[in-house]
Amino acid sequence: PKDRAAAKARAAQLLKARGAVLVAHYYVDGDLQDLALETGGCVSDSLEMARFGRDHAAQTLVVAGVRFMGETAKILSPEKTVLMPDLDATCSLDLGCPAEDFAAFCDQHPDRKVVVYANTSAAVKARADWMVTSSCALDIVGHLHAQGQKILWAPDRHLGRYIQEQTGADMLLWNGACIVHDEFKGLELQMLREQHPDALILVHPESPRSVVEQADVVGSTSALIKAVVEGTQQRYIVATDNGILHRMRQLAPGKELIEAPTAGNGATCKSCAHCPWMAMNALTNLIEVLETGANAIQVPEPTRAQAQACIERMLDFTA
Ligand code: 13P
Ligand code: SF4
Repeated sequence: PKDRAAAKARAAQLLKARGAVLVAHYYVDGDLQDLALETGGCVSDSLEMARFGRDHAAQTLVVAGVRFMGETAKILSPEKTVLMPDLDATCSLDLGCPAEDFAAFCDQHPDRKVVVYANTSAAVKARADWMVTSSCALDIVGHLHAQGQKILWAPDRHLGRYIQEQTGADMLLWNGACIVHDEFKGLELQMLREQHPDALILVHPESPRSVVEQADVVGSTSALIKAVVEGTQQRYIVATDNGILHRMRQLAPGKELIEAPTAGNGATCKSCAHCPWMAMNALTNLIEVLETGANAIQVPEPTRAQAQACIERMLDFTA
């Protein structure tokens, strides 16, 4: 803990010296989340990370999260320097949706509006009409559906199916999944609920249907945190990456948080419910990039400008 405190102080000093601000996601290491808040940065869901990075006056953004989050920041603010602790921090949804295959899929369905999840590469976003995150996907697809639009959706099949069921929109789905949320188990969750009938069930919509259909609250990471803070219940079962528990514990210290089961035997497998790419962010590599200026995100034109349009459409819609 002494070393950690020293490392945090060093990182804070370097952020200040570089005029940089730290933009962190709720799934990264708790020290990084705390550091972001203590130094005037933010910790939030992916929609608010995008907005915060775009609106902040700092000329250097350090994004502690996964690659698409850094790319989104750079796409929105090409004049800023965007650094990431590890440029190899990717996402199974991004990996599972290569730009060339995706473009071919879009070409086969020119009558559909192309709506992509934030968890995609800049090249995939460049081919899309809209980008959405889990916090605004329902509203945006509902809006397009009300206009009579048919949708091509990528890449998360669970989130796509959930939106389709909720809105009734005509949606063609790409077959991608998050390796973390895909592991939550419906049957084991049902058994856990029976043990804790008083608990509120909180589920991120990247989870399978068998898990989502048992939820009291389905929502983005920010929405799940809000549900714990505002909920009157004492006990919560949480079906999302366990990095989120750090902030939940800080904001709702008296409440009992139980991780939803990821293993077939009903036990909770810590290593399953934590994103290996989010876990690549640490104080050590943060300090390294702040010292060296390495790991700057680049998004070449015209891909950047094309991707910017679909992200800004979402930010304007949700403003
Ligand atoms: P949120 O937008 O809900 O923070 O989700 C991002 C993510 O990667 C979830 O796995
Ligand atoms: Fe991607 Fe899942 Fe990791 Fe989120 S938790 S970054 S969706 S692999």
